Amino acid sequence: MTSKNIVFVGIIASSSSLNKLDINSGYIAVQHGKIVKKGSTDEFVKFEKAGEFSSYKIMKLSRNQFIIPGFVDCHTHAPQFPNIGLGLDRPLLEWLAKYTFPLEKKYSDTEFAAKVYDQVVQRLLTNGTTTACYFGSLHVEGTLELVKSAIKHHQRALIGKVSMNKENDAGYYNETKKELTDVEEFIKTVISYQNELVEPVVTPRFAVSCDKELMEGLSKIAKQYDCRIQSHISENLSEIEYVLQTNPKCKTYGDVYDESGIFTDKCIMAHAVHLTDEELTLLPSRGVSVAHCPASNTRLKSGLCPVRRIINANITVGLGTDVSGGDNASILDAIRRTMDISMCLEMQGSPNYALNWKEAFYLATLGGAKALNLDHKIGNFDVGKDFDALLVDVYSKGSQIDEYEGALPTTSEEYVVDLLQKFVFLGDDRNIVQVYVKGELVKNLL
Ligand code: GUN
Ligand code: FE
Repeated sequence: MTSKNIVFVGIIASSSSLNKLDINSGYIAVQHGKIVKKGSTDEFVKFEKAGEFSSYKIMKLSRNQFIIPGFVDCHTHAPQFPNIGLGLDRPLLEWLAKYTFPLEKKYSDTEFAAKVYDQVVQRLLTNGTTTACYFGSLHVEGTLELVKSAIKHHQRALIGKVSMNKENDAGYYNETKKELTDVEEFIKTVISYQNELVEPVVTPRFAVSCDKELMEGLSKIAKQYDCRIQSHISENLSEIEYVLQTNPKCKTYGDVYDESGIFTDKCIMAHAVHLTDEELTLLPSRGVSVAHCPASNTRLKSGLCPVRRIINANITVGLGTDVSGGDNASILDAIRRTMDISMCLEMQGSPNYALNWKEAFYLATLGGAKALNLDHKIGNFDVGKDFDALLVDVYSKGSQIDEYEGALPTTSEEYVVDLLQKFVFLGDDRNIVQVYVKGELVKNLL
């Protein structure tokens, strides 16, 4: 893979905030993987005439194509992909014991891990996920295979070796001391790869699987190595009940993490379906963000997450597919389910809870980048950011979107918005004809 200097000319869409979608015809110039210049089509014509882009490859998009930022998946479990679509007949804690822990235990086999992870990373890139925040398994070597796959296929990835020290039926946990040693070894090894796209994440599975001693140790390690922390919070009512029973001095689930030093401004928590008013104050006061995972919230019958309430509490929110509690690896699916679940809540009587497609698109791009503390590098097309992007062809061959000639509006402003809207509601990987990560072409159907 070599990164060329390249100028894209055509429709470009990205968000600058939850309520602001910028969509225009224009150009973006990319040099060594970074956005160095952008502007209107007229400016492009002027610069091109002046020879400014003579060393660049020029990509002129067709009328049915546009460029958007790559999707950010803030929460998914790479080792659970073989279970995708399976075993969704039980609530969270039973599902973990019956299906998930037995599968994850298999990743002590490093060869098996390498094969699965290679497929997982490619599947996500094909679907336009240029950045993924992954849970691996308990195993250092196995999870390093995920790191190697991300590096090999050039995906931006935050990767955690999962930490657990509480006994379970599958025997899938570590003694505290070994766990802390393993986590440090994992972090040091990932850092030693010196790959700019991949970073380690401290990953206590959740307060059901980790005691206070382990979480305190993990938060110290995160501080020492300046790592992000990821975990799960308040996904399911039985889970919350268990956490409060086993931590009787804590008033809320959030207090359990906060008292162990887990809640920092580099922490992202998945789910947050049943947060209390106290937690809705605590999380933003610590700078904790949330990965909204609508697919698994319904598949595991955890609940309808009031994502508008979380956003209104000034918590930064991104989207997660949460495979294999979630049954779909595509962020386009997470966008649609975010709209549907939030609309269900509104129709059930919570005014203004529905998120529209532009807001859901923001969560899938810039919102996710902010939630992962990566918005200085990715999330939209500000000059200076890395070029992580999707080239979408709305009517690409074999796709699900048909063109009805003369049906779309003719004024260009309305036309481009409708084009993006069609993709958000109907598109899939067949419409994502090119994928770029830091300027490198990692998928190409053209
Ligand atoms: N809580 C703890 N572990 C998991 C997991 O693997 N998936 C989901 N959805 N929730 C969890
Ligand atoms: Fe999860």
